[in-house]
Formats: sequence, C-alpha cells, structure tokens
Amino acid sequence: MATTEYQFTDHTFDVIVVGAGGSGLRATLGLAEAGLKTANITKVFPTRSHTVAAQGGIAASLGNMGEDDWRWHMYDTVKGSDWLGDQDAIEYMTREAVPAIIELEHYGMPFSRREDGKIYQRPFGGMTTNYGKGGQAERTCAAADRTGHAMLHTLYQQSLRASAEFFIEYFAIDLIMDADGACCGVVALKMDDGTLHRFRAQRTILATGGYGRAYFSCTAAHTCTGDGGGMALRAGIPVQDMEFVQFHPTGVYGVGALITEGARGEGGILRNSEGERFMERYAPSAKDLASRDVVSRAMTMEIREGRGAGADNDHIMLDLSHLPPSQLEERLPGISETARIFSGVDVTKAPIPVLPTCHYNMGGIPTNYHGEVLRPTERDPEAVVDGLMAVGEAACVSVHGANRLGSNSLLDLVVFGRAAGLRCKEMVEPSAKQRDLPADAGDNSLARLDKARHANGETGTAELRLEMQRVMQNNCAVFRTGEVLAEGVELMDQAWAKRDDLRVADKSLVWNSDLIETLEFDNLIYQSSATINSAANREESRGAHAREDFPERDDDNWMKHSLAWIDETGKADITYRSVVMRTLTNDVAVVEPAKRVY
Ligand code: FUM
Repeated sequence: MATTEYQFTDHTFDVIVVGAGGSGLRATLGLAEAGLKTANITKVFPTRSHTVAAQGGIAASLGNMGEDDWRWHMYDTVKGSDWLGDQDAIEYMTREAVPAIIELEHYGMPFSRREDGKIYQRPFGGMTTNYGKGGQAERTCAAADRTGHAMLHTLYQQSLRASAEFFIEYFAIDLIMDADGACCGVVALKMDDGTLHRFRAQRTILATGGYGRAYFSCTAAHTCTGDGGGMALRAGIPVQDMEFVQFHPTGVYGVGALITEGARGEGGILRNSEGERFMERYAPSAKDLASRDVVSRAMTMEIREGRGAGADNDHIMLDLSHLPPSQLEERLPGISETARIFSGVDVTKAPIPVLPTCHYNMGGIPTNYHGEVLRPTERDPEAVVDGLMAVGEAACVSVHGANRLGSNSLLDLVVFGRAAGLRCKEMVEPSAKQRDLPADAGDNSLARLDKARHANGETGTAELRLEMQRVMQNNCAVFRTGEVLAEGVELMDQAWAKRDDLRVADKSLVWNSDLIETLEFDNLIYQSSATINSAANREESRGAHAREDFPERDDDNWMKHSLAWIDETGKADITYRSVVMRTLTNDVAVVEPAKRVY
C-alpha cells in the first residue's frame, strides 16, 4: 500500500529494541557490547522513559546490611507471587540479581552508600530472611529515592559508549510478521517529520513498558500505553495473566503521584482517621511492610468501614514526621518534594494523604526466561515466536505471578534485559542473511495509520479514552465481584464499538499528538479488554486479584496462567498455560504452595 504519500525508508539491523526504559537500555547495551548491529527505537527521549520515575530501589541479596541469600529472595518472590510465578524464572532472577547489581555499580550507577562504602540497602515489603522465619530483610539497593533516574542515565550513557544507534521519537506502529508467523521487524513513524520507516532485524525485542494509563488514576507516565502488548495482540500473540494489576498503597491522594514504599522501609507508618497504626491488625508480623496487595486491601477496608481520613473519610495518612529530618533529607528527598508540591505537606511536620493507585501490570507478553516470546499451542505450550522477544513490564516472564514485590521490578528490567542480550549473542550471527520481507510488509500499519488519521466521527480520542479508564477504575479495581466485572466487560464492549466513531482533528503527519494518542489508545483498549475479561473469568482470589465472591485461592482449579487473545471486535478468547513448578538447578528446592500470611 506504500503510495506517494506514504513511502518507507528501510533500515536493516541484527537486532532492534523497541523502548528505552531500564529493560530496553540494558538489552541494547548488551547487544551493542556483543558486537551486534543494534538499533533502539523509542517514542520518548531515553532518559525520559518511565523507569526514570522508579524510586525506592532494586532488590538483590548482597547482604550488605546483614546476612542474606538469593534462595531467601527466591522464596519471598514465589510467596509474593501467590504461587503463580514460574519458579525456573524466579530462580534465574534472584540468583542473577547479585552480579547484575555489581555490574551496574561498575557501569557507574551512583548508589547510596553505607559509611563503609558498601551499597546501602533498605527494607521493602515482603522481603524476609531465612525463608520468612528470620524477620525483615534489608535487600533493596537504593540511590536515595531516585533509583530509576540513576539507573536510566547510567544505562543510556553506557549504550552510547558501546555505539548503539538510537532512533529517538519514533513511534512503533506494528510488528512485521511473515506468513510463517515469524517476526521480521517493525514499522515506525518518525514523529517530528511524519516519515515512515521499516526496521528489519533478525530479532525484535519489545521493551515498551506497562499499560498503566488504562486506568483513570495511576502512578504511570502518560507514555505508559502498553504499545508492545497492543502490537503483539494484533499479531495474534496472546497476553498472559492480565487480571493481575498492582495497586501501590501510597499514591498521593487525588493526584496518583508515587510515594515510594521506601518511605515505609525507612520507618513511615500508615494511620487511619483515628491515628491508629491499623496494619498491626492485618499483618501482625510485617505490619506496614506486608506485601503490596495486602496493604492496599487493608487500606481499602479501613476506608469502607468509615475510618478513612479527611472530610470525606476517603483516604489514609502516611506519617513520616517521627523520622529525623536528616534521614528524610538524605534518603527520601524526592518524595519530600512530591508531598510538598502535590499535597502541600511538610513531611517533617504532617502526614501525607495517600490512596492505593494503579502502579504495575504483572501481566504482559508471555516469554521464557531468555526473553523469547511464547505463542503456546495445545501441542507445545512453550512454543516460541521466531524473531520476537519481550522484556520488562511489557513481558510476563512470569516472575511476579499474581503480585509483584516492591523493588523486584527494576531487578526484572536489568536481569531480563541482560538475559535477552545474552540470548541474542548466542543465537544471532552478526550480519547474517535475514528472512525475506513479505511483499506487503507494513501495509497493515499504513492502513491503521491512515484510518486513524482520517477518522471523522463524533467522538474525540481523549473522550473515549476517559470512558475506558473509568470502566477500568470502577469495574476492575482492588476488590472485584462477578457482577461488577460482568458489567465492566459490557461497558468495555460499548467503548470498543465507539472506536469506529473516533474523530482525529489534526490530519497532518508532522508532530501530530492527536494521531499518536489515537494509536496509543488502540493499544490501551486491547489490553483493557484482555484485563477485564481475564478478571471476570478467574473465579478465585490470588495476589492482587481479590474476588469478594470467591475469597479463597483455589489451587486445584486455578493454579494456571491465563492467556487472553483479543479479536478485531474486542472479544476475548481465554486459554491457559501451566505454572512452572520446577527449578533450574538443584541448588534450590521448589517452594511448595502454602497459605500466604505476613
Ligand atoms: O515504592 C516504590 O519505590 C516502587 C518500587 C517498585 O514498584 O518496585
């Protein structure tokens, strides 16, 4: 369909990475260092990727603050996942955490330090010692409360040093798939001049982040529109475990900006309207540092039972005022500023009003622990899609299962970004002959682009996006019931139908944010549909998926991953994949399912 108006510029690389957050940059760096001709295609300038907003830290059992062991970290992660995480991948991540951090240190990442010069580590929720029997672990390596910022700058600088090529402010529209179902690259729009580009590669790595903006209130940047998940679904690849959406306990009330869990790690306390430290009742041992799903549910219960703070009894208070001002200044400068700007609070004197806020997608594009994308079939549940990989929040490895532990996200980014680079080093021959591009390569992208650009209906993209976000916020939140979810599915179908009535006012191709937001909205609604349908389908409570009508975990029927496939009408088809209950080595035993108490 290339016409005089739409001409492709073609590029050929050994490997392309889409996205320049923590996982995309770590993959890019490894690929470039391995001597592979590597391109990174990103819709935002790399150091503006959402990883820049990560605050509290990155988990690794360095043992700088006391005894620690990667096996304990593995146990905590499996338990945190409510036994939905794949144990081979969790072993890989927790074991590789230690060398991954040392490597970051050697790349120049400016970690906070102890007096003796070792990397500072703080307590985070659900992290324990001695398989939960030894009390709270101090495992989360921090650069004050700006750890993601430090990481992103380090990885971008190192990638430039390794001569990776960056295509900045290029929006990836769709994957190029061939007739055998293999991925040959992507089509992208260069946003500042409207030119169209076909990037061809032996391997394409999606590192496009989460889809937090499917919700009305979230800690995610406006750019978090799950572009990789949308591209995968349109290419006939399912997404996995989408019903598991993490609500971070401490988003600033009314705004959603993140207040790091590190604030509780440094000694902050959650209080209800009576000033009570209510977490003692819900998690007598871990208290404010119980796993995030547990804390978010407890906060919601307090509010529901009339003990919420403020004139409308609709939020909770996070109290840091008992901490020494020097500690706040040194360890939590970022959130002290956030609290001042967004709620007018001086944290040395008053508590911060907070509310559970959508923060992280445990679900995503299914992969193995090398980062290779899976398209499971009945005959082969681990079948790999040739030429396609995914890492970071876009992917579901699955190391987080039904609930992610705080500070395991930055870890996931670097460990699996690095793993993807290692896999390509092993499998990709530099400058090897590539698959032939299909004769119509990119035509589907041009058709979507053209349709969106000339959309002349009655509904503005922002209006329809808000409708979708409200459905997710109201019908797929911390607590769920079959009735509310079924209503959500119906409302989502109605929103989907209105895609045909969209209006894009700006018809140009140059820096057309109306057009880009429309393409992003499409990615969001594909994943919203997958999320709400998967949630309606799963009749049990596990991790972040809390069904009031099915309050118990049901291992007999539901210890399995959901796979959602979305068709062109927005309808979901759900199949399943077994949870991996084997370890990679004999160095550690499988963590057997047990009741999850903190
Ligand atoms: O609370 C935080 O600093 C967030 C960390 C995370 O989501 O891993």
